[in-house]
Amino acid sequence: MKNCVDLILKWYNEQKRPLPWRRDKDPYHVWISEIMLQQTRIEAVIDYYERFMKRLPTIQDLSEVSEDDLLKLWEGLGYYSRARNLKKAAIKIMNEFDGVFPSNYEDILSLPGIGEYTAGAISSICFDLPEVAIDGNVMRVYCRVENLDLDVGDPKTKKLIGEKIKENIPASSGDFNQGIMELGEVVCIPGGVPKCDICPLKYHCLAHVNNRECLIPRKGNKTKVLEKEYTLFLMKCGDKFAIRKRDNGLLKNMWEFPNQEGFLTYDEVKKIIPGIQSIKLSITNTHVFTHRKWFMNSYLIEVEKEFGDYLWVSIPEIESKYALPTAFMPFFEEIKKDY
Ligand code: ADE
Ligand code: SF4
Repeated sequence: MKNCVDLILKWYNEQKRPLPWRRDKDPYHVWISEIMLQQTRIEAVIDYYERFMKRLPTIQDLSEVSEDDLLKLWEGLGYYSRARNLKKAAIKIMNEFDGVFPSNYEDILSLPGIGEYTAGAISSICFDLPEVAIDGNVMRVYCRVENLDLDVGDPKTKKLIGEKIKENIPASSGDFNQGIMELGEVVCIPGGVPKCDICPLKYHCLAHVNNRECLIPRKGNKTKVLEKEYTLFLMKCGDKFAIRKRDNGLLKNMWEFPNQEGFLTYDEVKKIIPGIQSIKLSITNTHVFTHRKWFMNSYLIEVEKEFGDYLWVSIPEIESKYALPTAFMPFFEEIKKDY
């Protein structure tokens, strides 16, 4: 993570979206935006935010607004207790902090409706205090950069990641926190494939370097399934590929591509396979059995001669004679493409 802090800051300073609450560092502005962002997409929040600030430009206005007016402003955003808490917090600021938004973490955290995430966000964005703001985006980016399979649904994970990030929090903590969040929102995205090709961290991110970004974060599994990781060697010699027969366990007597438990790096593969002429990362596949789950990485490797106890066979031969389990079919489809 350490290497990534400056890259995130640089990326954020060059790429940050011009959002209305970023026009200044007024804690009132940041506070309202962060509460709105907890339930709604950024694009949808912009209109709500502008309307809210037009109607209630100061903390005092918020403390005096009628509940009906407040709920009308909030209409469509959902979680109406959040709106009520905003007003309660505004009243507390008027009464206990002379109408000035507090500037230290503990006081900010004491306000109704403000938890650790929001307190961290406001403290860092507005006051550059060395605090973290850990949301789902931050956890995902962190786990990928460090290539960690942590259960992001576990509150202990949030705490751990918070502590780790805090160790390296830079002086411009607000830019850093917003940068890592934004990276998670627009590049290291949750659904689908992360956009590693345009990511400033691509040379440092351990998940990406090991071709594991799509496997992280691992979804929390409630049922007891045994999870295993494998690296498959799609070894090609001339027009033949190496396969072998499974001699025991699950899928006994079916054919498979040679593989080894664990996710191996290039260097590890190079030590195991002799006579490599070329090697490149190929596809990833996850296969779920009733009580097992396999996470599979693969390398496409051209070797100069046939070796080992493998059967070296052509694609049409595999297709006609050798039963490959479904778990390996995507890899077969992949090697067929170039055939
Ligand atoms: N998502 C929620 N708050 C954010 C912020 N301050 N910057 C970027 N993304 C966010
Ligand atoms: Fe995420 Fe890919 Fe960037 Fe790693 S390189 S942080 S996986 S987008």
